[in-house]
Amino acid sequence: MSAAVMPSRKTLSRPQTLADFEQLAAKRLPKDYYNYVAGAAGDESDFAYCRRYLDSLRLVHRVLRGSHTIDAQCSILGSTYTHPFMIAPSAYLGSACKRGDTAMALAAKEFGTVFTVSTLASEEIGAVARASKADLWQQLYIYKDREITRDLVRRSQEAGCKALVLTVDQPAVGIRYRDRKSGFTSPRDFRLPNVLSAAAMARRGNTSASVGKFLSEQRNATLTWKDVEWLRSISPLPVLLKGILSREDAGLAVQSGVAGIIVSNHGGRQLDALVSPVAMLSSIRAAVGKDTLILVDGGIRSGTDVIRCISLGANAVLLARPLVWGLAVAGTAGALRILNILAEELKNSMAILGVSRLSELGPQYLFNPQIRLDSGYAAAPSAIWL
Ligand SMILES: Cc1cc2nc3c(=O)[nH]c(=O)nc-3n(C[C@H](O)[C@H](O)[C@H](O)COP(=O)(O)O)c2cc1C
Repeated sequence: MSAAVMPSRKTLSRPQTLADFEQLAAKRLPKDYYNYVAGAAGDESDFAYCRRYLDSLRLVHRVLRGSHTIDAQCSILGSTYTHPFMIAPSAYLGSACKRGDTAMALAAKEFGTVFTVSTLASEEIGAVARASKADLWQQLYIYKDREITRDLVRRSQEAGCKALVLTVDQPAVGIRYRDRKSGFTSPRDFRLPNVLSAAAMARRGNTSASVGKFLSEQRNATLTWKDVEWLRSISPLPVLLKGILSREDAGLAVQSGVAGIIVSNHGGRQLDALVSPVAMLSSIRAAVGKDTLILVDGGIRSGTDVIRCISLGANAVLLARPLVWGLAVAGTAGALRILNILAEELKNSMAILGVSRLSELGPQYLFNPQIRLDSGYAAAPSAIWL
C-alpha cells in the first residue's frame, strides 16, 4: 500500500458503520465534491424511497438448520468471489483521495472483488491495472466519436479488464440542483485520461468548462440495440448493460447476447421519479430466467440489503457512494473497511437466517404483506406499500 493511501490508526478506529463513514467524509471532502457524490437528480427523493422499499422487505429466519459453515461465495463471469458485492463505477475518484482509482482498485484486490473503473476515472485504465493487479471491469459510454470508445475498449483489453460495462441510462444527464447551486461541473484538478489524451486536453483549453462542453457534445442520445451489437463486435470481452429497469429491456438485453445486466437507476442521479431497482428484481428475474447474470445497485447499505437483493433474484450487488466515503476517510484502507463491514454483516445475517450458502436464498426468506415477490409487475412498487 503506498504512503498516499495509508491511514493513521486513529482514522479507522472510530467509524463502525457505513453511515459513520459518510459523516466523516462530509467533514473531510471539499463541499462541492461531497455534494456531487451525495447528491442526485431533482428533489433527491430517490434514496429515501429506495431505502423504504428495501426496509419494507423483512426477513424470515429458519431455525435448527445446523448451518455451521457460512459460505458467501459467488461466481460471476467465470470468476469466483468470496462475497457477492462489487464496486460500482464512480467518476472523478481523484477528488476523494490521491490516486483515488488506484486506491480503490487496491481495496478491491485486497478484499477479492471487482472494481468497475469509470470512463471518467481520474487515472488511465492501464495505470490502475498495473498498480493494483485487481479484477477490473471498464465502464463505457458510446460517444458520438466512436474512436474514443474504441480506443478505451482496446486499452481496457490490453490492461486485462475482465468485462465491459456499457452504461445505457444516460441519453441526457439528470438535472442535479445541488451541483447547479455549488457550480460543480467537474473537479478543479480534473483529468480524463480515459477519454482525452493530455495533448487533446491541452488543445481544448484544459478548463473544466471546455471539457464539460466536450463531454456533453459527445453524449449520444441516438443509441439503439444495434450499438450494443457494435460494441460486442469490436471486443471479445463480455459486455454488461448498466441501467436496465424494465423487464422488456431485460429481455431485449438477453436477446442482444450481452453477458449480463445491471439493474440500476444510476443511484437516483438521472430522474428522481424512477422506480427502485430492487423493486424490479423479481419481475426481471422471472422474465429472463435463471441463467442470466443479474447485478443490481442503488441504496444498498448493509449485509441484510445484500440478502434482500439475492433473495429477489440478483446474483450479486454493486455499491458506489459508501466506497467513495471509505476512500475519502482513509484511502484504500477506508474502502477496504467498508467491504469488510459488509462482509461481516452479510455472514452474520446468513448465520442468523439459518442459511449456509447464497443459493439457498429466495423469496421465502422475505416478508411483506403487500408485495407479491415471485413474478410480474405485481412485484413492482405501488402506492400500497408506501
Ligand atoms: C459520485 C458518483 C459518480 C458516478 N459515476 C458513474 C459513472 O461514471 N458511470 C456510471 O455508469 N455510473 C456512475 N455512477 C452511478 C453508480 O455507478 C451507481 O449506479 C449508483 O451510484 C449506485 O447507487 P449507490 O451510490 O446508492 O450505491 C456514479 C455514482 C456516483 C455516486
